[in-house]
Amino acid sequence: MPTIDLADSDQQRLFRQRRYFYYLSGVDEPDCYLTYDIKEDLLVLYVPDFDLHRAIWMGPTLTKDEARQRFDVDKVRWYAALKSDVLVWAHQNNNAAPIYILHTSQQPEVSRKLSLDDELLLPAMDAARVIKDDYELRMIRQANKVSALAHQTVLENIHKMTNEAEIHGSFLGTCVSHGAKNQAYEIIAGSGPNAATLHYVKNDEPLEGRQLVCLDAGAEWECYASDVTRTFPLAADWPSSHARDIYHIVEEMQEQCISRIKPGLRFRDLQVLATDIAIKGLQQLGVLKEGTCEEIRVSGAAAIFFPHGLGHHVGLEVHDVSEKPITAFGQSKGRPTPDFTPAMSQSFPVLEEGMVVTIEPGIYFSRIALATAQAQKLPSTQFINFEEAKKYLPIGGVRIEDDILVTSAGYENLTTAPKGEKMLEIIRRGIDN
Ligand code: GLY
Ligand code: MN
Ligand code: MN
Repeated sequence: MPTIDLADSDQQRLFRQRRYFYYLSGVDEPDCYLTYDIKEDLLVLYVPDFDLHRAIWMGPTLTKDEARQRFDVDKVRWYAALKSDVLVWAHQNNNAAPIYILHTSQQPEVSRKLSLDDELLLPAMDAARVIKDDYELRMIRQANKVSALAHQTVLENIHKMTNEAEIHGSFLGTCVSHGAKNQAYEIIAGSGPNAATLHYVKNDEPLEGRQLVCLDAGAEWECYASDVTRTFPLAADWPSSHARDIYHIVEEMQEQCISRIKPGLRFRDLQVLATDIAIKGLQQLGVLKEGTCEEIRVSGAAAIFFPHGLGHHVGLEVHDVSEKPITAFGQSKGRPTPDFTPAMSQSFPVLEEGMVVTIEPGIYFSRIALATAQAQKLPSTQFINFEEAKKYLPIGGVRIEDDILVTSAGYENLTTAPKGEKMLEIIRRGIDN
């Protein structure tokens, strides 16, 4: 990944290593290149040529000796040698084997016409990346450890905070001071109705008069992500029966889904389970009217309150790559299609040992989603008691999210941030002290 200047500025874009490159090299430095000769099993890292001006201003870039010591590669070469190395290799081999590249934009810039393949490498790497090895699990565990500390610190101090910005600042400060300079994604610290906005990132409103905070924030460790959400009250206890009831439904959705995780399970079935628990819970509260879970799911009514996928892979990306998405939703917060044909459902991928997935159910009361559904008189609206649903608007929403490793015996929860009763006790201790 080359260094890139910002438009109309003498500053450079914040460097973020390309994850496929990092997966193969472990190198989190700009302006490096990598070749791998499959037949010879030879991994060569190319480091930037020495640049005096850059060394004085930014500190020296990787030297060959340093790179050899730090990275598990077979050879280290200067960038200056890259083009001629490719040409020499192509002269000897390229009639017999293509050069595999991830994207057409990554063609080597050499004078000779090369035989290239830009289709096979990406799915092969996605298949490899979706199963995490022991090293990767150590990194994800460490990312989770820092996130847990940062979530806990917010809970301990929340009684002193008056604005969402302080929650954001506290979380970030704990992570950075514990060695996690980067967040795996933008911090979401939504209080009150802001919690209904799934990717709310403004994080600048006063907490006064708000009931709950939905804090979705996860540290990154050595480029590996954690993805953790906690929803907690701005008081010693749940500030209303509405807040408590919705928290308990979401808690039940999460516990039931996590307890079923094991190799061979279709993630899609967990999505249905979580949705059905939400439907039954909302029916008991009178927010949803009578109807079977199937009818309500197919109508789209449940998706107004639970509008995103139950989870996604986590790894070098917070929404990590895989050959096939585990849910039927293209993206984790994509809008679900209400139903599937049996033929489609046969092809839903199953969980495998070594995968790390989030389980992140949520129930939201979005003014805009409810108003739109009501105005459009969609088929879903026959199942919704809008008058009752609107009473929950002040709580915004509840999401609880953990990162779960699929093991041969079932699962291991990698997320250690307090939730449920433990979370409430920490808030209370903060208030009492
Ligand atoms: N934090 C993004 C997500 O939960 O998917
Ligand atoms: Mn997530
Ligand atoms: Mn999240």
